[in-house]
Amino acid sequence: MTRLRTSGKRHRQYEPGSTNCARLLIIAVSVILAACGQDNFASTAVSRSNVQAPHWIDDPAAGPILPITAEVDTSSHLVQLGKTLFHDTRLSADNSLSCSTCHDIEAGGDDGRQVSIGINRAEGDLNAPTVLNSALNFAQFWDGRATTLEEQAIGPIHDELEMGTNLPAVLKKLAADNRMVSAFDEAFDDGMTSANLLTAIASYEAALITASPFDHYLLGDVDAISETAKLGFDEFQKLGCISCHQGRNVGGNMYQYFGIMGDYFADRGNIRSSDFGRYNVTKNPVDKFKFKVPSLRNVAVTAPYFHDGSAATLDEAIAVMARYQLGRPINQAQVERIVAFLETLTGEIEDDLL
Ligand code: HEC
Ligand code: HEC
Repeated sequence: MTRLRTSGKRHRQYEPGSTNCARLLIIAVSVILAACGQDNFASTAVSRSNVQAPHWIDDPAAGPILPITAEVDTSSHLVQLGKTLFHDTRLSADNSLSCSTCHDIEAGGDDGRQVSIGINRAEGDLNAPTVLNSALNFAQFWDGRATTLEEQAIGPIHDELEMGTNLPAVLKKLAADNRMVSAFDEAFDDGMTSANLLTAIASYEAALITASPFDHYLLGDVDAISETAKLGFDEFQKLGCISCHQGRNVGGNMYQYFGIMGDYFADRGNIRSSDFGRYNVTKNPVDKFKFKVPSLRNVAVTAPYFHDGSAATLDEAIAVMARYQLGRPINQAQVERIVAFLETLTGEIEDDLL
């Protein structure tokens, strides 16, 4: 299985070096996009949350793709408690699965399945997105129904097909464990509460930020990625992928229809309510088949793809995007270059987050 690289150290700090190249790149991209009339740089916003956003998220120098430059604090009691909870099977009704069952951090933050399998081997309708860098998304879930990571985390705990339980039942189990009680006491003045459980999980997730070779490149290290990857990034911009996959998370900052230039759903067939996307939240017919544009960070290690898990490989996903989102023919050489670029978005994870 393809896995993320680990940093091999507890804390990591990138030296930004010269940012001139990055600035030039961003200006060049802006010019290209302005020329194409694609002036939709939504700002990269972070979910409003109790969890304090790292200071660099609201960088005013908004470009099409912003680098990750953070030093993440991974060692606090709060983040470490969140890590323990994320891996604790007592969060499910029959103690059979934890968040990490469907979001394997080291393997890209997802489960590698077409659709997720919950308690009692119940099959859901949706592909599990990665939790890595989810703090950088403007909303959570394919349909954006949760604004914060805390709000999101209640979802799987209560979902009958996923963990099938509720917060009081989970707290009752955890309260019988002295080590858990002390871990909450160390992290919070008011100890173990439902709100604190959600805050701890959200704080852990907010630390799951993975800087990648492409970030080094944006920060001025021109040798951080291969020539093929650079051509792929060029292709990604010229074809127009960047008009949707952009911002700090290379996605995660807008909703878009799936099937703008072709009817993806008619061609695939077997339409289910989970295909309605954003409509399930707003009930506004114009939102039918609209989804949160997913982040492409770590995308090379999170196959299969799309909300329905229909694309088994990255090559296939790119071809589907070119056809249904851009209506542009794309050849195998272009696909390979884009894959080389997307591979540079595979990041590093701190050892003490695993
Ligand atoms: C049975 C598998 C399963 C379990 C267990 C599970 N998840 Fe998920 N997770 C999913 C699926 C599937 C989705 C997408 C659902 C949707 O969009 O409606 C998802 C979505 C998410 C997202 C949104 C990411 C994004 O980009 O939109 C986050 C964050 C997340 N889960 C965190 C958690 C946490 C925290 C837990 C434990 C409390 C958890 N998950 C437990 C399968 C699971
Ligand atoms: C008009 C907006 C738009 C454009 C342009 C676009 N995408 Fe997407 N992309 C999306 C949306 C929306 C999804 C989610 C579709 C779904 O699963 O419902 C997506 C999903 C993906 C995925 C799957 C990610 C995952 O984790 O499942 C990949 C890979 C991807 N796009 C790459 C590209 C590439 C490469 C291009 C250019 C050839 C491109 N996209 C152009 C909006 C767009």
